[in-house]
Order: sequence, then C-alpha cells, then structure tokens
Amino acid sequence: MKKFKIAVIAGDGIGPEVIAEGKKVLSGIAALDGTFAVEFTDFPWGCEYYLKTGEMMPEDGLDTLKAFDAIYLGAVGYPGVPDNVSLGQLLLKIRRGFDEYVNLRPVKLLEGAPCPLAGVKREDIDMVVIRENSEGEYADVGARLYPGTPQEIALQTGVFSRKGCERIMRYAYELARREHKTLTSISKGNALGYSMVFWDEIFAELGKEYPDVKTQKLLVDAASMMFVKNPKRFEVVVTSNLFGDILTDLGAAIAGGMGLAAGANLNPERKYPSMFEPIHGSAPDIAGKGIANPLASIWSVSQMLDFFGKEDWGKRVLAAIETLLVEKKTLTPDLGGTAKTQDIGEAILEILRR
Ligand code: NAD
Ligand code: IPM
Ligand code: MN
Repeated sequence: MKKFKIAVIAGDGIGPEVIAEGKKVLSGIAALDGTFAVEFTDFPWGCEYYLKTGEMMPEDGLDTLKAFDAIYLGAVGYPGVPDNVSLGQLLLKIRRGFDEYVNLRPVKLLEGAPCPLAGVKREDIDMVVIRENSEGEYADVGARLYPGTPQEIALQTGVFSRKGCERIMRYAYELARREHKTLTSISKGNALGYSMVFWDEIFAELGKEYPDVKTQKLLVDAASMMFVKNPKRFEVVVTSNLFGDILTDLGAAIAGGMGLAAGANLNPERKYPSMFEPIHGSAPDIAGKGIANPLASIWSVSQMLDFFGKEDWGKRVLAAIETLLVEKKTLTPDLGGTAKTQDIGEAILEILRR
C-alpha cells in the first residue's frame, strides 16, 4: 500500500491547535479510502525550540526533511523571538532551500462563508493567486550601512531573475490555459523601473507562446482596489513575492477570513518536498484558547491530497468544508459559532463519512 510520509512542523501559537485537526482529517481519509496510508513525523521546531537551543531548527534540518513526501506546517513566529529570525530560519529557509517557487493560494468564496462585500455572489470570488515564492522582494540581499550614525542607511534589494520570473509566469500561463481562464499579472512598473518593468516585459514575451490565454496587466495599487470593488475580474493571478503576500491577506478578508485561507508552497519539479500550510500566522491574540479556526489548515490538506494525485479526495475535503459552513452547526467564533478548534476535524470527517 502506498504510504505518504509527512513531516509535521506545527510551530508556534495556534499552529499546533489547527494542525492537530488537519492531521485528524488526513488520517481519517486514509482509513476511509483504504488504498493508501499516511505517516506523520512531528518536529518540535519553532520559537520554543529556539529559546531552548538558540536555533529554529537543527543545522541539518533541511537534510532531515528531504526524505518526506510533503511538509505540513502550522505557523511560525511568537513574541519573544524577533520575527525576522524565526521566519528567516524556518519558514523562509524551507521555501528557499527546497526551491518551492510556486505559492499557490486559492481565494474562493465558499457557500456559507462570510463576505464583507455588499452584493457579491459566491461565484464572483473564485480566483487562484500564484505568488512568486523564491526571490523578488524577499531575496535575502541587503545591508545596513553606517550603523548608529545619523547617516545610517538600510538597503533591501529586490532580486528578479529571468529564470525566476519565467518559471512562475509559465506555471501561471499553463494553469490559465488548462482551465480556460484569464490570467492577470499584477506588478508596479510605473514606480519600480528596474524590477517591475523587467517583470512586465517577460510577461508580455511569454504571452506570445500562449496566444490562446487572455491576459490583463494591473498595477498593484489599482488591483487592490479591484479585489474589493470587482473581484470577479480575477481568475488566475500571477504576482511577485511581496505583492502576493499582501494581496492574499486581502483575498482572505473578502473570502471568509484568515481562518479559511490556505496555501501550497510547491516545487513543481518534485526534486524537493513541497509544503502545505494555512496562510495565517501564529495569532498570539487567540493562542491557547481553543478557538482558532482550523479550516485553513484543513483546506491545505485538500491541496496536499491534490498534490499526491488524490484529487477526488481534495475536492471532497473542500466540499465538506463548504457543507460545514452551510450547516452552521460546528463553527468557530470567527465564523459566528461556538465550537472549539478540536471539534472541527471530527465534524469534517463526519461529513465525509455520510
Ligand atoms: P496572524 O495571521 O497570526 O493574525 C492576524 C489576525 O487574524 C489576528 O487577529 C488573529 O487572531 C486572526 N487569525 C489568524 N488566523 C486565525 C484562525 N485560524 N482563526 C481565527 N482567527 C485567526 O498575523 P499577525 O498577528 O500579523 O502575526 C502573528 C505572528 O505570526 C507573527 O510572528 C508573524 O510574523 C507570524 N506569521 C507567520 C506566518 C506563517 O508561519 N506562515 C504567517 C503570517 C504571520
Ligand atoms: C505568509 C507570511 C510569511 C510571508 C511571513 C511570515 C514571512 O506572511 O506566508 O504569508 O510573508 O510569506
Ligand atoms: Mn502573509
């Protein structure tokens, strides 16, 4: 029987609370299916580990992770450890180290999910954001000059390589082609005359290879406005690392909230493991209370199942989330319910068993 080996990094804050529910769902599905198994290996890496050992994960952490079919991550970062250290040494290290250059983040309004926009129907918000996940504004390149003097300067360099831009755009063009969808590139060439002009040029060049794909190009400020005023005009979106980060929190806000937003960090060549996670953080404001919404983590299980070639199960998990939202019986407080985090995994399984 095929066994999928999954490395679990539950991480900090609400990470362990929401990941526990995703694990329940995945194990339950394997049992229901009967043709494959899942094996979890838990790694205690994160901020507590840092406070004990001085590092977010062991030096050979990436080597250890290499052996797995996928990584399932909760959230990283907690007061007491500087965010740039905790994220830089764990989450971003894995994304870069495993060349997970595609960050695939669905922004899809499910039936029953709350939407703060007036007059928006469920089908009006149904897009996927393809965020460049390996370079751009997140490249670890920069300097601090003249520290402690009035002339002090901080430099943070965006790195946009032809290879990096081409591969993320090609991924997006292929997806748009397969699904007969409009592809929108979101950039900022009017102000960032090197990086974003380069991005725009490559997007246009590649477009010649995909004459069947309808495209549009938007500036990120206007696109943010359009996410709110006219989300219907977006289907497949390709954008840079930082813009994708910001736009997907905005996407979460219009499609049910942070508790419903999932993301896959993919190495499409499958040379290294891919990583699946909710897009939210460790939410220190609600950690330990048992009220975090684990549906984003469960949605990322659906993405993992797609990635494992179990697309039927991926669809069924998403449908089960939608049923849960519509029935409104077992929802966490962010969605207006009174259920606890730990009730949700079983509630999803109960729907899947029907
Ligand atoms: P956050 O996403 O943790 O929280 C933002 C708001 O959304 C909070 O009010 C929180 O309570 C709410 N929220 C988030 N997830 C929720 C859920 N599942 N259910 C209900 N409510 C939820 O963002 P933040 O407060 O800016 O960051 C907190 C920490 O997490 C920081 O250290 C940050 O760097 C880190 N962070 C990590 C990741 C990650 O590991 N992928 C992502 C984002 C932020
Ligand atoms: C996300 C997060 C990370 C990012 C942070 C925590 C480094 O916000 O996954 O969206 O900016 O990519
Ligand atoms: Mn983010």
